[in-house]
Amino acid sequence: MDKKQETIEILKEYNQEHIIRLLNKLNKENQEKLIKQIQSIDFHQITELYNNTKKEIEFKEGKIEPVKYLDKAKLSEDQKIKFDELGEQIIRAGQYAVVTMAGGQGTRLGHQGPKGTFKLDVYGKGKYLFEILTENLKEANQKYDVTIPWYIMTSKENNAETVEFLEKHNYFGYNKNYVTIFTQSELPLVDEEGKLLIGKDFMIKEASDGNGGTYSSLRASGCLAEMKEKGIKWVFIGGVDNVLLKMADVTLLGMAKDKKVQIASKSVVKANPHEKVGVFGKMNGHPKVIEYTELPTKMAELRDRNGELKYGESHIMCNLYTIEAIEKISKEVLMYHSAHKKNSYIDESGKEIIPEEPNSYKFESFIFDAFEFFDDIAILRGKREDDFAPVKNKDGVDSPKTAKELYEKFWNK
Ligand code: UTP
Repeated sequence: MDKKQETIEILKEYNQEHIIRLLNKLNKENQEKLIKQIQSIDFHQITELYNNTKKEIEFKEGKIEPVKYLDKAKLSEDQKIKFDELGEQIIRAGQYAVVTMAGGQGTRLGHQGPKGTFKLDVYGKGKYLFEILTENLKEANQKYDVTIPWYIMTSKENNAETVEFLEKHNYFGYNKNYVTIFTQSELPLVDEEGKLLIGKDFMIKEASDGNGGTYSSLRASGCLAEMKEKGIKWVFIGGVDNVLLKMADVTLLGMAKDKKVQIASKSVVKANPHEKVGVFGKMNGHPKVIEYTELPTKMAELRDRNGELKYGESHIMCNLYTIEAIEKISKEVLMYHSAHKKNSYIDESGKEIIPEEPNSYKFESFIFDAFEFFDDIAILRGKREDDFAPVKNKDGVDSPKTAKELYEKFWNK
């Protein structure tokens, strides 16, 4: 059987006849491109993921327990000095690397272009999100007399634009030799009937497969091997959209080292028991971020003897790992979640359809689902006003307006 016929058989088996019709309309060159893409897709996996969207999610509520944390503001002076010194030693020794996850679509913000290229209106002139992150890293470099290797993860969709933007702005003064940009893996988008969407280029439309893809993409891109060669022992992984993110917090790093854990995270306390954020806990004895949809209301309201929420430590995408931990996770398979999203596509007549309502599923794995592979996690509670000002939504909570206020307040202090 030739390649084309083989491809057609696969498409028939998985009920993707609309792609067979498309294939037959294309010229030879485009046919070959599409065939190559189809051969690279795991249709069995996509079918399973699609079928899962029709099933009820099972919550294993009974086995949830609170997790221990240390409050940065309440550390004794000795403890703080000890952690800071330990952390500082690691950074000064060149054993610390930072990864920024910038492969998201940023659909809620609605900015044209990669999220890192969004300009936040601060101090009159404004600053790009990438610029703000660079400033944070440059400050650490100056303080600890090093240049921290910086790895930026993009998606196939936004890679070219990200590279062009950073080049144009000369990496905001960061030493370019220490910046590595790598792309994450993707999965096809599927409509409500399980049919794969077609994009404007007459190829199957794919999108980044969630920030949980960071680990395997670090391995596949060769970045992990490079880190090991450089002698990196600790890796920080953070998001692109928190303008108060501290990417080189020596207290967090020293605490992780002191506690001999493989993974650590900075949290901030929930604004109220019903805030829609994931919180740290333990499930079946393993660390886990429990989504607000998974945490029963009663548990969300539980308080300890000091009046603190038992499940109050929110996950803010401020995570730290030993290099061994990254290596271990990168070989595991993370579970996928489905997000019902609006995605444009090309219909059978070749017309582009821009939906007004969610029309398709995007499959994503989450960075925090990897915590379950470990027995323990060290959590350092930071402060919302110092550590957390996300740019997620166009308006309202976690929007450019709230991030601007928090950013300026922090820097005016
Ligand atoms: P979010 O889950 O908030 O997604 O990402 P988003 O893409 O920024 O925004 P929406 O949901 O489409 O509105 C949290 C962090 O994870 C990164 C994002 O770039 C952000 O830093 N991310 C997300 C990836 O790197 N890859 C992905 O596939 C998804």
